[in-house]
Amino acid sequence: MMLDTLLKDAKKQLVSALIHKKHSFRYFTLTTLSLEGSPHSRTVVLRGFDPEKFTFSIYTDSRSDKVKELNKDDRAEFLFYDNNQLLQLLVRVNLIGSISSEEKFNSLSDSYKKDYCATQQPGNPIKGPEDIEYDFDKGYFIELNFKAVQIEYLKLKRPNHLRAKFHINQNWKGCFITP
Ligand SMILES: Cc1cc2nc3c(=O)[nH]c(=O)nc-3n(C[C@H](O)[C@H](O)[C@H](O)COP(=O)(O)O)c2cc1C
Repeated sequence: MMLDTLLKDAKKQLVSALIHKKHSFRYFTLTTLSLEGSPHSRTVVLRGFDPEKFTFSIYTDSRSDKVKELNKDDRAEFLFYDNNQLLQLLVRVNLIGSISSEEKFNSLSDSYKKDYCATQQPGNPIKGPEDIEYDFDKGYFIELNFKAVQIEYLKLKRPNHLRAKFHINQNWKGCFITP
């Protein structure tokens, strides 16, 4: 089993998740550091992945906690898990940029726009799920771009589990580690 096969497989799966809506990697856990320094995780949708540049993108509301947290500390971790393959990818990333694209927001249908244009701040208490107003002219849509610095591949299988780590500083050469 060659190490670079594992890295290639990880990238192939991520590319596949962009195309196939049912792929488990479409939804993943994004962990940031809260303003107090504690871990803060949430589920997000994978919106972009470039296997050559090893960059990722997600869409969010520019007023959300994750944006505030990443502006303070650009480090984050992505956790992907595929229950069918018993495959876990842990990707350490840095925020490298954000694009608040009015064009992209305007191209969304109203039902999708809703996710980015509530007049109330995300995270604020409301009376109930219906107590939300939307401003379809003024979105808070933002695309966040991340660059991978390390990836850990873990697949549970018999007779031997497969666990390997790849780091940008070793030119993504990688090494097997004890599962
Ligand atoms: C299935 C699912 C998909 C989600 N996708 C996104 C997403 O792509 N972008 C996003 O900002 N929030 C997404 N959320 C909501 C986040 O998990 C989170 O609750 C919200 O973004 C607020 O996070 P924050 O206050 O920590 O920034 C998703 C939630 C679920 C359950």
